[in-house]
Amino acid sequence: MALDVSIPQYRENIYSKAAILDPYPHYAELRALGPAVWLPRHRAYAISRYADCKSVLLDDETFISGDGVALNPLANRLGRGTTLNSDGDQHALKRSVLAHRLTPRAVRKMTAAVEDKAEQIVDAALAKRFVDGVDDLATALPTSIVPDLVGWPEEGRDNLLRWAGATFDSLGPVNRQSIKATKAAGEMLAFSKRVVRERSVLPGSMGDDVLTAADENRIEKSKCPALMIDYLAPSLDTTIGAISSALHLFARHPEQWQALRDVPDRIPNAVNEVVRYESPLRAFSRRAVRDVEIGGTPVPSGARILVIYASANRDPREWHDPDSFDITRDAARQLGFGSGVHGCAGQGLARLETQTILRILARRVHRIEPAGTPKWAINNVIHRFEKLPLRLVAAEGTPS
Ligand code: HEM
Repeated sequence: MALDVSIPQYRENIYSKAAILDPYPHYAELRALGPAVWLPRHRAYAISRYADCKSVLLDDETFISGDGVALNPLANRLGRGTTLNSDGDQHALKRSVLAHRLTPRAVRKMTAAVEDKAEQIVDAALAKRFVDGVDDLATALPTSIVPDLVGWPEEGRDNLLRWAGATFDSLGPVNRQSIKATKAAGEMLAFSKRVVRERSVLPGSMGDDVLTAADENRIEKSKCPALMIDYLAPSLDTTIGAISSALHLFARHPEQWQALRDVPDRIPNAVNEVVRYESPLRAFSRRAVRDVEIGGTPVPSGARILVIYASANRDPREWHDPDSFDITRDAARQLGFGSGVHGCAGQGLARLETQTILRILARRVHRIEPAGTPKWAINNVIHRFEKLPLRLVAAEGTPS
């Protein structure tokens, strides 16, 4: 694969700790350099502008996922067999086994359970007043809803957050983080193999659907362990990221919190704006299977293509004043959930969880205030807080 010398290059490490903590200046440089920019350190082409990201995501025949969506070969090999890492009919088949569990109708049926849980979370947080936005508000909902849906055995739940975070971390480039994470990601797969062997999923769950599909020869038995964690691994840190970023942004922008409380119908769009502004999943890759042009820049067959959702969502070619947080802008076309055939299968549920927490907080919390220095998690793929000290000021008439 000879490199066309006319193609712009960016020599910085966009996965260094500093870049993970503040990726946006790098993304601005990449967008300014051109539609496809060669990253020599990561041996991939960065696609950072909104229109180009969208067109790559929509052309799944040219830009395939079956060779993996990570930036390193080991993770791409280990991830084989998942919905995320498959193409064409195989992808459609895997998605069909579980998609009925997350249709808008199915998600609507989860509303009452999500509301009950969210009420309990907000009650407990209000009683404390000084909270950690991550531990006390953002984590409990995602870590209770999807594990039940998937039917993950109770005994495997303590490790879930660590395993799922590591699974994302392992999808970065070859760096110290991804190498370290591979062990924990492997533990999750090993546990899942045991779950399949022992058929220890909860009855009537998604996991049960996977085993039944294998019993009926609709999918290969060897694919079951990967499918079992297919919906679990991507459901936790992402949603924790969306909820915690929402809390952070509303704490820093009290006028936006007031705008949300004044008109609660703004909540669905506010969630889009949060996911646009602080995209929980920064980037995934594809493999080009033919010589192709991206935004007029030639890219050779075989090249790895990094689609940076978090950059597309801050592209001034697409968004007016993209670095300002504004829940009244129309943010529905943000790419934080991806787009095209691999567009997030769980976004209905992620939206329900995030909207529900915000709706209950809006009813009961007058102000969310920063109460210390927040800390971002260091992860190759996930953009979320690790610690988020906040003070909740109850609305009048709300017991706290
Ligand atoms: C705010 C929360 C979430 C965000 C930002 C998010 C983001 C994404 C993105 C960007 C993709 C596209 C991957 C690609 O282009 O290759 C994706 C795919 C996926 N997501 Fe999510 N996600 C979230 C929550 C969830 C939840 C709650 C679930 C499960 C219940 C889930 C399950 C999946 C699955 C199974 C895929 C693979 C779809 C496929 O390849 O066909 N996600 N997600």
